[in-house]
Amino acid sequence: MKKLAERNPEKLIDLLLERRTFERTAVKLYDRVLSLMSASEDAQILGMLDTMQAYRDEEAEHQEWLEEQIRALGGDVNGESARSRLAATEARGIEQVILREDMELPHLFHALMAAELVDNAGWDLLTALAEEADDDEALDAFLLRQAEEEDHLEYLRETMSRYAESQVLGGALQLPTEP
Ligand SMILES: [Fe+2]
Ligand SMILES: [Fe+2]
Repeated sequence: MKKLAERNPEKLIDLLLERRTFERTAVKLYDRVLSLMSASEDAQILGMLDTMQAYRDEEAEHQEWLEEQIRALGGDVNGESARSRLAATEARGIEQVILREDMELPHLFHALMAAELVDNAGWDLLTALAEEADDDEALDAFLLRQAEEEDHLEYLRETMSRYAESQVLGGALQLPTEP
């Protein structure tokens, strides 16, 4: 991440802290949804568990990787920055939905999809920045995680579509058990 950090390392750390804050929230959200899914008696929901668990683990890897990068740049992984505070505030609504006791699973998937949209935009931004700076090393690392984020979003979009199709158009619910 040398080229990216050349001019304003503190601004780069700010961006990475923002992403880290969001990834940390994402792990929390997935953990909550996974625990509710495991308690379900619906075979279709149980059929989604492996995919959702894999996505949760990818979010955790993203968080750890970002913390390594922040440390390597001399930043404080437990510190806050303007953007990390902004990300935390923005994510609060989604967190409220997911942590409420009386929420139905389709609503939780909806909230997760909203989180994944932001997550995708965050990695897109990092990727574009690395391209602009000709930082190939950072670009490869960002692209890898951006591709994972695309899968998460695609899967949750598909899940929301299946619920909407069944509810609005009628017919049996067919949740996506394959990623
Ligand atoms: Fe993520
Ligand atoms: Fe994600």
